Amino acid sequence: MSLNRRQFAAAPLGLLLPALASAAPANTSGEIPSLAEAFGSRMRFGSAVTAEQVRDPKLAAFIARQFSILVAENAMKPQSLSRGEGRYDFSDADTIADFAHQQGLPLRGHTLVWHNQTAAWMFTENGAEVSRATLIARMERYIADVVGHFRGRVLSWDVVNEAFVFGEAGVETDGDGMRMSPWRRIIGPEFIEIAFRAAAKADPHALLFYNDYESQAPQKVAAIRKMAQGLRAKGVRIDGIGHQMHCARAWPPVADVAAAIDAIAADGLKQHVTELDIALNDQVTGTTVKAATEELLKAQAQRYSELMTLFMSRRDKVSAVLVWGIGDAHSWLLNWPRARFEAPLLFDAQLKPKPAYYAVLEAANASAHAAP
Ligand code: XIL
Repeated sequence: MSLNRRQFAAAPLGLLLPALASAAPANTSGEIPSLAEAFGSRMRFGSAVTAEQVRDPKLAAFIARQFSILVAENAMKPQSLSRGEGRYDFSDADTIADFAHQQGLPLRGHTLVWHNQTAAWMFTENGAEVSRATLIARMERYIADVVGHFRGRVLSWDVVNEAFVFGEAGVETDGDGMRMSPWRRIIGPEFIEIAFRAAAKADPHALLFYNDYESQAPQKVAAIRKMAQGLRAKGVRIDGIGHQMHCARAWPPVADVAAAIDAIAADGLKQHVTELDIALNDQVTGTTVKAATEELLKAQAQRYSELMTLFMSRRDKVSAVLVWGIGDAHSWLLNWPRARFEAPLLFDAQLKPKPAYYAVLEAANASAHAAP
């Protein structure tokens, strides 16, 4: 990359002003307005990216122009980094971290301790299940090594991801709603505390987050707050809560999201929206939608508008919003919970802006005239 983010952002601005004013599709230069520019210093707005994307010069330019914060979609997960105890492959993650650094973009670190995409060797020892003491030692070493490797390059770490579950058939939990993952089962509920202590030690300057989905659901909000308050009561540092915000056309209610943000802010915790996408299906796991009709895209844009307007009205509480991918061709929702049609992002499969993009752009511009 020879141009930095400032140069990308500055070059086409004059040409873009008419398009900005009318929120019209791409202007004659072929450029669309930059979301990062539109949000300015009022909100960090970003996306999950892959190493392959930032290695592609055209895509890299697109990313640098549109976004003001990045996260690796998979490259910084244990499954991607770990090659055995004390052995790592940082190549893809470093590609993303170096790109972010070069462009002056802050980077979210996702994620250290999770029940999915973990390191295969972590939970076994001599062909049997690992002992509690060994698992704690392995977790501490993994966190020290990985957080240490990226020290100074990561704004905030998702130290623990998805530890609580309520009302999901077939998922075992303890009495506090904590998922019976190998971490919880082998170490006990204090695995969270151990992880946050290790992360704080490895990078005293990175913000330490707990990240989860359905983080607006009242039971989960209560469990997350209790966990964070418990850590703080013991003097363990936790700085913020990440709301994944995998949404759908008719779910969740915006009022629940507002109430969750306010409740968590009252505890003095920072907040990021970490993985925003809005399925065209009315529910997150729905499979009835077969195509991106004009009507569905309009309804989706309306949802993006409502949520982004909410986040901008609470920008004293929410300091970053990231979408979970750039274009619809690569959304994880195409394969989760099974193969299906979806189109949940701001840009289509050809990276053309969708009505959702213009809705977000409008929310960004409107926020310039509204106090938080
Ligand atoms: C997803 C990625 O987008 C997929 O590419 C991967 O196959 C599975 O994980 N919650 C999270 C993210 O915290 O890490 C997940 O990302 C989506 C749900």
